[in-house]
Amino acid sequence: MKVLTVVGARPQFIKAAAVSNVIRKHHTEILVHTGQHYDENMSKVFFDELNIPKPDYNLEVGSGSHGRQTGMMLIKLEEIYEKEKPDFVLVYGDTNSTLAGALCASKLLIPVAHVEAGLRSFNRDMPEEQNRVLTDHLSNLLFVPTESAVENLKKEGITKGVYNVGDVMFDAVLNFKKLAENKNQIIKEIGLQGKEYILTTIHRAENTNHIDRLKNIVEALNECNKAVILPLHPRTKKYMTDYGLKFNENIKVIEPVGYLEMINLEMNSEKIVTDSGGVQKEAFFMKKPCITMRDETEWVETVKNGWNVVVGTDKEKILDSIVNFVPNKDQKDIFGDGNASGKILEILDK
Ligand code: UD1
Ligand code: UDP
Repeated sequence: MKVLTVVGARPQFIKAAAVSNVIRKHHTEILVHTGQHYDENMSKVFFDELNIPKPDYNLEVGSGSHGRQTGMMLIKLEEIYEKEKPDFVLVYGDTNSTLAGALCASKLLIPVAHVEAGLRSFNRDMPEEQNRVLTDHLSNLLFVPTESAVENLKKEGITKGVYNVGDVMFDAVLNFKKLAENKNQIIKEIGLQGKEYILTTIHRAENTNHIDRLKNIVEALNECNKAVILPLHPRTKKYMTDYGLKFNENIKVIEPVGYLEMINLEMNSEKIVTDSGGVQKEAFFMKKPCITMRDETEWVETVKNGWNVVVGTDKEKILDSIVNFVPNKDQKDIFGDGNASGKILEILDK
């Protein structure tokens, strides 16, 4: 079978690192990179470090407004789909690359497989929520990571083709954890080896695009009396400059890092403070308390299990949870058994 996979943004490279080589055991895969992320440290580093197959096509769409970016992808993908005639198109997650990949396939009557289907924040203002809902409704195979995702789909009338395979990011962590253990150069360089620090990421549009929300986050981190390591997403860097916001000395701002370096930073952290989807899950895998600076989360099981607390962007709530949030002692297996990729392959084989 010929599977055409569309990736474009950082978390999708990591998911493909878990899935692509497994699919290639039995099937032909054509890998298309939309070029949504293009800086070396947002794209190439992942292909190099994680042994992801080199993309067969790079659409080089770059940054832009939602309509322009998604539209450019559609135009270019259509040509490739018509030329390659895949049996299936595979997409991951909830970015504009996901939606473009699925919509283009659906219009050409090519079946769509969606990995990380069924997640919902129930906040339709989020571009990610729009992309998820639309992609799920266009998909023929829906590989969901959690039981609540199965339920979400059921409520929208989607029951056919739904498979709870577990989370492919759990596969990735298990595959690469050992390699990541030695990647402690950054902590050494910053001078925080063996010391306590908070690891932070911020990039969600709902935070960066509202000065009040970003200002609250920056002030909370500035005032938390802890060392903070912050690999800064280019979106956030741009808005920090536009708004004239500054970080204090306690915050070590670094460029975005490779996946192995990031896993190492997570492993050695005291707590994780983030608005990322993937990083919330990784905090759970690493057994680190997670403080989520959003108004809701799709990863509700991490909260129910007592490992994640959703605090929004209220400065006092962020500060309070940095000091006081203590996770549960136990963890349940809410993300499957770490073999989501193998299960995806089995289902594709059938
Ligand atoms: C995108 C996804 C988001 C995901 C995130 C992962 C959408 C709508 N959003 O958000 O769901 O969580 O990726 O990181 O698809 N930029 C660079 N260099 C790059 C890439 C981006 O400088 O290599 C800057 C540009 O100024 C760009 C901005 O970051 O305008 C935002 O990039 P974009 O891909 O539109 O969205 P993300 O915020 O990265
Ligand atoms: N990540 C990384 N380097 C960084 C920041 C994040 O490798 O500097 C990884 C992180 O470990 C996780 C993924 O990127 O695997 C999450 O992507 P991101 O936060 O950009 O997007 P989201 O998951 O919110 O869509």
